[in-house]
Amino acid sequence: MNPSPNPVAAPILEISHLKKSFGPREVLRDVSFSVPAGAILSILGRSGTGKSVLLKCIVGLLKSDAGDVSYKGSSLANPSALSALRQTASYVFQQNALFDSSTVYENVLLPLQARRRGTRAEWDMRVRSILGRLELADAAQRYPSELSGGMQKRLAVARALVTDPELVFFDEPTAGLDPLRRNAVFEMIAKLQQESKFTAIVVTHDVQEALVVSSRILWLDAGDVRFEGTSADFSESRDPDICAFRDNIEALREAVRSMQTNAAH
Ligand SMILES: Nc1ncnc2c1ncn2[C@@H]1O[C@H](COP(=O)(O)OP(=O)(O)O)[C@@H](O)[C@H]1O
Ligand SMILES: [Mg+2]
Repeated sequence: MNPSPNPVAAPILEISHLKKSFGPREVLRDVSFSVPAGAILSILGRSGTGKSVLLKCIVGLLKSDAGDVSYKGSSLANPSALSALRQTASYVFQQNALFDSSTVYENVLLPLQARRRGTRAEWDMRVRSILGRLELADAAQRYPSELSGGMQKRLAVARALVTDPELVFFDEPTAGLDPLRRNAVFEMIAKLQQESKFTAIVVTHDVQEALVVSSRILWLDAGDVRFEGTSADFSESRDPDICAFRDNIEALREAVRSMQTNAAH
């Protein structure tokens, strides 16, 4: 077991030459990368660039047109490897996907009931423990609609972690949250990952926040991998394309243009 995110650890996932099109639209052209066990890998890219499609192809929610994904060295084309991955991977969806007519407690209990391992008493202990860790203990009997946006996101994370997964996929975990809460979500992911040692794959367009907590970065643009490596290398890169994306130069130019326009009037 790795004590901390370790970029040289053996890969838990290897993605090779993945391709996916919808009709004439090539969304993933030829995507290859590996995910070291214990890493927090952030997949960065503009909206509509194929990040969610990539996650879905990895876990088999979408069928890729070509390429292969392997989990601990076994191709997921092999049904036993796919079922091993599904037993141990959790997914935090962009829209949380909470069950509105179930309480907080019941939402978190569901994945344990679905897996049918352990006793009712063990489930109860696990649910209470994860609700405590995510500061939701007092909200156990409330319904999702009675929670703030930040609490709903913590509930979605509690539900993903209650089974003690080895791999957790987060799709835009900060979507719809204000900047302060966005930071809090990334800090929470980093803290939980340190405590529980899962491998985290986080899809996000919050570049600066992701850089603080991730050990690895993958930059996806127009269906291609434009960068794969450590966060430090991404942060320090002088490549003009990386700088433009990382430092959001387009947004800066836009702001300057609008200031100049306003000043001229
Ligand atoms: N099921 C689908 N059918 C057709 N097109 C899709 C489907 N899912 C995604 N797409 C298209 O693939 C592209 C990438 O989408 P997505 O992966 O959701 O982007 P993002 O990077 O914002 O997560 C978009 O152009 C989207 O319209
Ligand atoms: Mg998406």
